[in-house]
Amino acid sequence: MSEIGATPLQIDLRRHLREHDEDRDLTRLICEIADASKYIINAISTGDLGMAGTSNLYGEEQLALDVLSDRIITKRLAHSGVVANIASEERDDIVEVDPDCEGKFSVAFDPLDGSSLVDVNLAVGTIVSIYRGCSLMRPGREQVAAMYILYGPRTTLVYSTGNGVHEFGMNSLMEYTLNYENIRMDEGRARIYSPGGQRSQYSAGTEKFAQYLETNGAKLRYSGGFVPDINQVLIKRSGLFMYPHLKNAPEGKLRLLYELNPMAYLIEQAGGAASDGRRRILDIRPEKIDDRAPVFIGSSEAVAMAEQCIAEMD
Ligand code: AHG
Ligand code: MN
Ligand code: MN
Repeated sequence: MSEIGATPLQIDLRRHLREHDEDRDLTRLICEIADASKYIINAISTGDLGMAGTSNLYGEEQLALDVLSDRIITKRLAHSGVVANIASEERDDIVEVDPDCEGKFSVAFDPLDGSSLVDVNLAVGTIVSIYRGCSLMRPGREQVAAMYILYGPRTTLVYSTGNGVHEFGMNSLMEYTLNYENIRMDEGRARIYSPGGQRSQYSAGTEKFAQYLETNGAKLRYSGGFVPDINQVLIKRSGLFMYPHLKNAPEGKLRLLYELNPMAYLIEQAGGAASDGRRRILDIRPEKIDDRAPVFIGSSEAVAMAEQCIAEMD
């Protein structure tokens, strides 16, 4: 019986990784990224909301925040001593940190996903995908870890190294302490859904799927930020996020290396599913670092229904 008023034992991120006997270099890498998030929080809350005057490899104009967040994380990774190669959504090419890749990790990340939402004060996030060794051009099923940090009313961090999905919250000392361990998606129908892209551009199969979701009582929840929208599905343990193939964008919008692979890894670790409408996201072999793919991700029952509608109608 704990003393009345005693605060529950707070397990911080590093301790959680150590208690799960995680590789010490992987623990170091994950903690470095967690530390870098403190500087991104500061940049979001006080930084310049203007344009950087540059564009990324997608031809999208970069915000100063995108570039600053990229520099914060890239610098931490480059000096960590455990990273071989880095791919950032905000950089045109892979950054080679150490040609001696043996025993090191390669990291793909989106430094500030949803950055265009900062000026309207909506939640944004950092998304990270981690592979062992040199190459990042591998199917997502070969990831050894994935994580995201959600900068919302509270700052939370979710990670998996293949042994379940765990959520941490940032406390008053800016430490990440454990909230939930081994998060598992509920069985059954999606209770919420996030429909990205213009509905008028949906294929017949996706339109039929959207009507299925609504007919079965799923409530629409869409913020425009991939990280908060996915986080809601995970923490509510039910739901479906989609950014489908569109008539005017057959590959959808979201990027395979930086957004879809890490989120697919996390959701599958929680017992959910992630598909491009026909096959598992984690089975897609990237051809270019800027590959995009359509995505249906969340409750397994809903993803299976999406694939069925697309197979029947598209
Ligand atoms: P990013 O800010 O890194 O470019 O990503 C934005 C993405 C993702 O956060 C979100 O799911 C999607 O853009 C929303 O797209 P729409 O604005 O077309 O809905
Ligand atoms: Mn993004
Ligand atoms: Mn981004």
